[in-house]
Amino acid sequence: MILPTVRIHASADVSTNVSIGQGTSVWNNAQIREDASIGEECIIGTGVYIDFGVQIGDHVKIQNGAFIYHGVAIESGVFIGPGVIFTNDKKPRAINPDGSLKSNDDWEVGPIRVCYGASVGAGSVILPNVTIGQFALVGAGSVVTRDVAQQALVVGNPARQIGYVCKCAARLTPIQENLYQCPDCKQQYSFISNSLFAEAIR
Ligand SMILES: CC(C)(COP(=O)(O)OP(=O)(O)OC[C@H]1O[C@@H](n2cnc3c(N)ncnc32)[C@H](O)[C@@H]1OP(=O)(O)O)[C@@H](O)C(=O)NCCC(=O)NCCS
Ligand SMILES: [Zn+2]
Repeated sequence: MILPTVRIHASADVSTNVSIGQGTSVWNNAQIREDASIGEECIIGTGVYIDFGVQIGDHVKIQNGAFIYHGVAIESGVFIGPGVIFTNDKKPRAINPDGSLKSNDDWEVGPIRVCYGASVGAGSVILPNVTIGQFALVGAGSVVTRDVAQQALVVGNPARQIGYVCKCAARLTPIQENLYQCPDCKQQYSFISNSLFAEAIR
């Protein structure tokens, strides 16, 4: 059942067997396949493809033309830029060595998780078996081949870490040993056991 507060453009192709939370909008020519689950107040842009069984949290924005294949989990608050592609088989083949067509059962799905608050820049490609940490930022056009740490900023092909970002997305500046500050909102962070923690505002 689709709730009355959910807006689905007439040209979108939404399976009857999906769950969509209140206040979510699905724009033109988007396709959402069976057993997908989308949370509340999400925006699913024009031409987005959401494969069967994909799990998406609340307040997620998926920009035009992003392809999200089976095996991907997207937590709440995530931003997916236009044209982002999530892959799900690291060693794809259409045929077997004898030339016969491979079936869907031959597809080896490698999972991908995008954690709370993270952003994936336009045109990026995410390889299987990767976790993108909370509030991490993947620069436009990156090819992500390995896990991305919480609040890490990664760019390029292959994506390499070039720094850390604030929860507001500005790049953090080191101000003293194990203390980083956001130039925009002034929030400070430090590492405890390899994880970045926001300092209480003094
Ligand atoms: C990664 C990003 C956040 C960096 O922004 P920034 O901190 O202001 O960085 P700068 O522009 O000062 O660039 C710093 C360096 O990184 C490089 N760089 C920046 N973005 C890059 C990218 N996407 N890929 C590769 N290198 C990049 C710059 O060339 C520069 O290199 P240099 O020091 O050798 O000259 C930004 O460039 C980006 O890609 N944002 C995502 C935009 C997007 O996709 N939005 C989606 C909605 S439309
Ligand atoms: Zn900030």
